[in-house]
Amino acid sequence: MNIILLGPPGAGKGTQARILVDSQNMVQLSTGDMLREAKSSASEMGKKVEEVMARGDLVTDDIVIGLIREKLIGAAGNGFIFDGFPRTLAQADALGTLLGEMGSNLDTVVELRVDDDALVSRITARSTCASCGEMYNDQTKPQPVDGKCSKCGGTDFTRRADDNEESLRQRLMEYYKKTSPLIGYYYGKGVLSSVNGLGEIDVVKTEISQVLNQF
Ligand code: AP5
Ligand code: MG
Repeated sequence: MNIILLGPPGAGKGTQARILVDSQNMVQLSTGDMLREAKSSASEMGKKVEEVMARGDLVTDDIVIGLIREKLIGAAGNGFIFDGFPRTLAQADALGTLLGEMGSNLDTVVELRVDDDALVSRITARSTCASCGEMYNDQTKPQPVDGKCSKCGGTDFTRRADDNEESLRQRLMEYYKKTSPLIGYYYGKGVLSSVNGLGEIDVVKTEISQVLNQF
């Protein structure tokens, strides 16, 4: 099964993708994580995208489509979760073509519906375990009091360079201008499902499972 998790910054795409990886043995393909990895490896491409990401703008279609193509070739697993991809109509068309070339297809697009107020507080409160990527939130899922990640025991926690109010405003603007048209695009293709992303993490997880159980 191949699915897209679609939603604005902070909607819970990464959180729900990780839950699906653990519970369904699916493969998470997050272009944001791939780009951050390129940035920290100081590759040519990483240097090129650093400023763009810090500002909250979208990286060019060519770069992200190239990253996804690379990951799809030779990947195995019980289906893909596209997290943060596609983000433009051109990326959505390219994904359709790539899956078609693999003899595969997209089963469903799960839109996580949230409101902007919730997003600001979620994003500014987020931190991540530097070792395993487990996500924490100062309000809803604080880092363990013993200072050790509950998943891997790591003691180093990081905050993203673009998790500040100014970059978030720009990320939201990019979402509404360039990514939200995908809701209509996938509705038109008959593959759109929507869940309420404002519920607690476990409640959202259950709603997503109910959608996926139909396939
Ligand atoms: P990316 O990394 O994809 O960031 P994003 O889309 O802005 O989304 P986030 O990762 O911030 O949010 P999320 O929905 O994953 O929420 P999370 O689960 O972490 O992209 C970053 C940048 O890379 C872009 O701005 C762009 O520059 C570039 N880029 C990436 N992909 C690209 C593409 N395809 N094309 C062009 N450029 C691209 O949750 C957030 C917080 O809320 C966490 O603390 C979590 O614990 C908490 N939380 C989650 N769910 C709940 C809940 N139900 N209730 C309470 N708290 C919750
Ligand atoms: Mg994410």
